[in-house]
Amino acid sequence: MDYKFSPQTKSLLDRLQAVECPDTTYVSENFPIVFRKSSGVFVEDIDRRKYLDFTSCFGVVALGHGPSVVKRAIKKQAKKLIHGMGDVHPTEEKIKLLELLAKISPYASPKIHLGLSGGDSIETALKTAMLATKRHRFLSFAGGYHGLQFGPLTLSARPVFIDGFESWIQGKCISLPFPWQNDELLESFDSFEQQELFLNQNQFLRPENVLELLESHLKTKSFAAIVVEPIQGRGGKREFPPHFLSQCARLCHQYGTLVILDEIYTGFGRTGVLFAQESLGFLPDLMCVGKALGGGFPLSACIGEILDVWGKSQGEARHTQTFLGHPFACHVAYENIREISRRLSHFQSKIPAIENEFLNFEKDCKQDGIYAKYPFCFRGKGFMKGLWFYSQREAFCVPMMEYLLAKGFLVLPEGERADVLSLTPPLVILPEHFRSLFKTIFHYLKTI
Ligand SMILES: Cc1ncc(COP(=O)(O)O)c(C=O)c1O
Repeated sequence: MDYKFSPQTKSLLDRLQAVECPDTTYVSENFPIVFRKSSGVFVEDIDRRKYLDFTSCFGVVALGHGPSVVKRAIKKQAKKLIHGMGDVHPTEEKIKLLELLAKISPYASPKIHLGLSGGDSIETALKTAMLATKRHRFLSFAGGYHGLQFGPLTLSARPVFIDGFESWIQGKCISLPFPWQNDELLESFDSFEQQELFLNQNQFLRPENVLELLESHLKTKSFAAIVVEPIQGRGGKREFPPHFLSQCARLCHQYGTLVILDEIYTGFGRTGVLFAQESLGFLPDLMCVGKALGGGFPLSACIGEILDVWGKSQGEARHTQTFLGHPFACHVAYENIREISRRLSHFQSKIPAIENEFLNFEKDCKQDGIYAKYPFCFRGKGFMKGLWFYSQREAFCVPMMEYLLAKGFLVLPEGERADVLSLTPPLVILPEHFRSLFKTIFHYLKTI
């Protein structure tokens, strides 16, 4: 590794560690960097090294870092109104954003509740489902990630997140295994035992068995809702088999269980369309969005016709917070969404060339024998992709991330086994950026 902390970085990280909760930022010998500024697809650190950003900072900066539309919106709003009064005195900025979200949503006449983070919007969805169904239990999928507040945390089965909080979570949610139907990949393992280990490690079960299990739970009529991402984000860009989610939705509705679609990662062009819901073939009861919504400002929304179940405010909003509908964030989000929508077809037009870079990388790895040693497959869609090294040890992608960082690329390892290299760049990324990343990954795999 040719990256070592500069005295400046080290000093800043020492200061950070002295005051920040110790379980927040992971600090090792050569990780992390300290951000100084950013522009477009690049981030610069405190030592003025430049990095090509393949994370969009958790899928947020869809238009890249500091796009002019966001800068203009900030400037205009800063002169006008920064903070408002959430659920008491509304602002025009909030009203315009709500109208725009209603218009682009898949619903005929939805209502919307705003939050500050993705987890906030999931909280709203869970509470809404409880009010609507008078039930209090939930269903989710292994590998799903919906936030870490107490509400969304109940949907998680991942030990790292629930450790210490099990007594809170107990009995509130059933986490279903993930449906698996790639026989070709399974056959690449030498023995039946290896196949079994692979299925267990990844909490996979055949789609028909997952549906059977789901129905057996639904029959108890105690579940308010199932919460699901169209493509799992932190779960490693994992896609459900075709039609699986519409089958789930049909079953859920049959037993009076609502469907909450978590589009917090997938929304606003990330998968190549405005919302991944478009290709799912069913209408969820509630849709949650966040991340890219605010153009870099903390903002989220829970959208659906069923929000009417809250009834008319009697003077005391039952679900609100100080910064609800923050006018600054609402104005930036409004301009940001309109710009994403305007440029969406241009972003879409780049996808075939980007896909081609993936195929060229695979071809090169196969020709060179790298693939035989470190087999991988591609996951995800559009600008939400992953390279899954499915037969490697746990945390295989962690040293790869550190190597790539040293070479000037920001990436994240993902999946419960950290064996997926997650690639979620800003939508303004170019195919040649992928080419230079793949060249560096190729070199890494050759030398380890
Ligand atoms: C699909 C999904 N849902 C919910 C969340 C939680 O969002 P936040 O971290 O803004 O609370 C995330 C965050 O990564 C996410 O990827």
